[in-house]
Amino acid sequence: MKTPRECFGGRMAVIMAFAGSAIGLGNIWRFPYLLGENGGAAFILIYVAFTLLLSLPIFLAESVIGRSSQANCRAAVGFLVPGKAGHLFGLLMVVTPLWILSYYSVVGGWSLDYFLQAVQLRFIRATPEMISGGFARFIASPWVPVACHLAFLGVSVGVVVSGVKGGIERFCKWSIPTLFILIVLIAVYSLSLPGAMKGVEYLVKPDFSKVTAHTFIDALGQSFFSLSLGTGIIITYSSYIKKSENLVAAGVGTALSDLFFAILAGFAIIPAVFSAGIAPGTGPTLLFDTLPYIFSHLGQSAPVLSAVAAIIFFAAIFLAALTSSISLLEVGVTYLTEEKGMKRGWACALLFAVCAVAGTLCCFSTSVFDFADSAASNVLMVLGSLLSVILAGWVMPRQALFRELTNGGALRGNARIFTVMRILIRYVAPVGILVLVLSSVL
Ligand code: PFF
Repeated sequence: MKTPRECFGGRMAVIMAFAGSAIGLGNIWRFPYLLGENGGAAFILIYVAFTLLLSLPIFLAESVIGRSSQANCRAAVGFLVPGKAGHLFGLLMVVTPLWILSYYSVVGGWSLDYFLQAVQLRFIRATPEMISGGFARFIASPWVPVACHLAFLGVSVGVVVSGVKGGIERFCKWSIPTLFILIVLIAVYSLSLPGAMKGVEYLVKPDFSKVTAHTFIDALGQSFFSLSLGTGIIITYSSYIKKSENLVAAGVGTALSDLFFAILAGFAIIPAVFSAGIAPGTGPTLLFDTLPYIFSHLGQSAPVLSAVAAIIFFAAIFLAALTSSISLLEVGVTYLTEEKGMKRGWACALLFAVCAVAGTLCCFSTSVFDFADSAASNVLMVLGSLLSVILAGWVMPRQALFRELTNGGALRGNARIFTVMRILIRYVAPVGILVLVLSSVL
């Protein structure tokens, strides 16, 4: 007899799992440096608008596809598009998260190494001059990054192997609240530093002179990345949501917690950057070069506090990366167990092996790493998002969409805004995605 499919326990469990996928390196690493490059508060405003108007409808489209199918991603897409095309599109949604996991877990490995360095007080014992350029030295010899990548991947597998309820749900239920506490602690520390108010000003006073066409592309791309759109994750997680749950409430809860966390991360990082007298637009090196430098700089006058802050900070990054990587892994695991009849343990072992090899290649070559990242963000995720809104908005019958978003009309509030949600899914989201594609091509 077939064992019944697992389900998430309730609304809170669903939001925690989704938030776990959404809250990650994107919030703590990408968001603050994009913010720094694009005029602070102005970027936040554009980002919030895109998240609510474009990303949330795409999220709901994927959620509807997942829950209506109650099946893995490949099958979910296959129900809507029968034949070879549906099979291929479905497989694309299974491959994308594994592709992302291969390099995402490399960055997760870096965060593990930096956490260990923080615990050994390396940033505090060294002078800022010694710290500077440390990241280039760290990745120049790939063996330590490879070991950290494997360790990080191993921990992710360790969570996923215990199942949806016993592994993912249980892990996210404590790690997400913990993450919020850690980031609030860092924000309080950062705001207490001398000169921090200049950073606060930067975060609350929009500087529209820095806004260019690029700001909009950055904000939209970041919003997609942060909500893990177009990767099969939302479809897969939603397939584990009970029919009685409110999908719209879960989607809104996830988007708001993701936004809130990103803004909190901005408040945790930017005031410290200003306090150390550094320009906020240092780019992608912000997390692994600028921040250790800042901890070392602050450690000269307040070593204990800076040491604790560094440990908390890198622990938060490690945890955030982990909650996202388990979601990336689950898509493939659900596919292999349901479609190929594999045991969960074997599916995890197989995917560990695949991502271990691919991630190791990324550790050895920055061009492989960059290629993997840009192919995922610019092609795979965009394609996946476009496919999802077309499927939910144009292929799925109107009544089926209505049934999923309103629980058959029982959720009156959702029924009242159904037409607006459908317009956002059918027209606004596809146009937004096409604009993103065209602008990056141009
Ligand atoms: N949302 C994650 C973050 O912000 O770090 C990153 C991510 C996870 C992207 C899963 C895509 C994905 F499929």
